[in-house]
Amino acid sequence: MSRIHPLVKKASKGKLPEWAKVSKGRYAHMERVAALLEEWARAADLSKRERQRWVALGYLHDALKGASPGVLRPGVRKDLRGLPDSVLHGPAASARLEEEGVEDQGLLLAVRYHTLGHPSLDDAGKALYVADFLDPGRNLRNSWRAGLRSRMPGDLDEVTREVVGARVAHLIKKGRPVLPETLAFWNSLVGGEPWAPVSEA
Ligand SMILES: [Fe+2]
Ligand SMILES: [Fe+2]
Repeated sequence: MSRIHPLVKKASKGKLPEWAKVSKGRYAHMERVAALLEEWARAADLSKRERQRWVALGYLHDALKGASPGVLRPGVRKDLRGLPDSVLHGPAASARLEEEGVEDQGLLLAVRYHTLGHPSLDDAGKALYVADFLDPGRNLRNSWRAGLRSRMPGDLDEVTREVVGARVAHLIKKGRPVLPETLAFWNSLVGGEPWAPVSEA
């Protein structure tokens, strides 16, 4: 794999790019997500290089969370420009990192799809997706989430599946749309042939 990009290395130490736009509260969330990722990467005995990627994701994924969607939208890849305001910050940060010369496709994909999920996420991308949701600073179904945290990193795929399932179920309960990337992520985690026709009785 190519050399770690200086910007990613800096992020792995908690230093954000100059163009980042985050509130104090958001930075505290990034620190907690990065701490979870560091803990899991160490427990999984990953290489130093891989651990830096995981920790950097904790800091980079929300680097543009504080920017207004109107400002972000034009900088996002054409096919993603129609996404809802709430998820634009991922694709925008990923585009910005690419402009800076970051070539790590797994890292870019993880940042781009950290809210929606995507079937091509690698382990670092899945870990980020999960850590973002399991942030101990978030007050939501706390004992269930603590249980999921305790199963990481050994149970990464199953924990990811449970988190995606819960998020999809929540959207359905609220009568909100589930975007194709999220459904494709779910399908990639359950295996099988999701689109096989139901046989007639
Ligand atoms: Fe985010
Ligand atoms: Fe986040």
